[in-house]
Amino acid sequence: MKVRFGALFFAAAACCGVMGFAAGKENAEMKKGIVLVAFGTSVPEARIALDHIDRRARERFKDIEIRWAYTSTFIRRKLAKEGLVYNSPLAALVKMHEEGFTHVAVQSLHIAAGAEFHELAKTVSLMRSGPDAFRSIALGKPLLVRRVDVERVVESVLGSLPELSQEDAVVLMGHGNEHGHGDMAFLATAAQFQKMHPRAFLGTVEGQPSLDDVIENCRKHLPKRAYLVPFMGVAGDHARNDLAGDEPDSWKSSIAALGIECIPVLKGMGEIDGVVDVWLDHLSEALKIAEKE
Ligand code: CO
Repeated sequence: MKVRFGALFFAAAACCGVMGFAAGKENAEMKKGIVLVAFGTSVPEARIALDHIDRRARERFKDIEIRWAYTSTFIRRKLAKEGLVYNSPLAALVKMHEEGFTHVAVQSLHIAAGAEFHELAKTVSLMRSGPDAFRSIALGKPLLVRRVDVERVVESVLGSLPELSQEDAVVLMGHGNEHGHGDMAFLATAAQFQKMHPRAFLGTVEGQPSLDDVIENCRKHLPKRAYLVPFMGVAGDHARNDLAGDEPDSWKSSIAALGIECIPVLKGMGEIDGVVDVWLDHLSEALKIAEKE
């Protein structure tokens, strides 16, 4: 009798409460995922930084599946020849859609909202409507967006270095972009470095501030030693060659020419907990937006 009554009740609920029942069913089928997006690196020693980000993300977002995508076609093809298969952001997302993921947060591991970040934003918007759309997809902001991001990152990077004496300086190499995308973030960050340490000079490979600005500052202060630090997610090709390489046009050679001893610190920002936390806070914000839908 009890069983019958239950069955009757169930039928009535399914009939009269269609909306409520449907919503419950949809919730049960929610499949959440995270995609971490980096430029990628083919330097095995530089992978440490990406592995560290991966570990921290898995610790913090335990119940959610985490995947990676590399934006650089060159790096992906190079790694594929070594048998290491990485997806582009679009390929990773399409694959997840096929596997039934419904709610996805994509986290940019870029430093600034520059050209590459905007390419990623275009890819994410492709998955927002049309036949392969997720029920919800959100894009996490790159590292340096708000003033507080800049403050936290500068403090963490300086905190990761050895104790600095009156004779030491710090030279940081960001990437930047020749068309100026991301310049504002780097200029603000350079100012914050100066505020926190009078001899911490940030320059970029392609944008502003430039190596000329760094050299001018080194000339003005003439420190005895300069720590050379990549202001990039990984200590990859730029860090090893353009910053710390022995070629005559490397930053090391240019600064050493002023009589300053150069000490390269080949550590990517992905290896610094305080920096990774900023990226993961942005991911947490993106997840909240994705889960709302
Ligand atoms: Co480059």
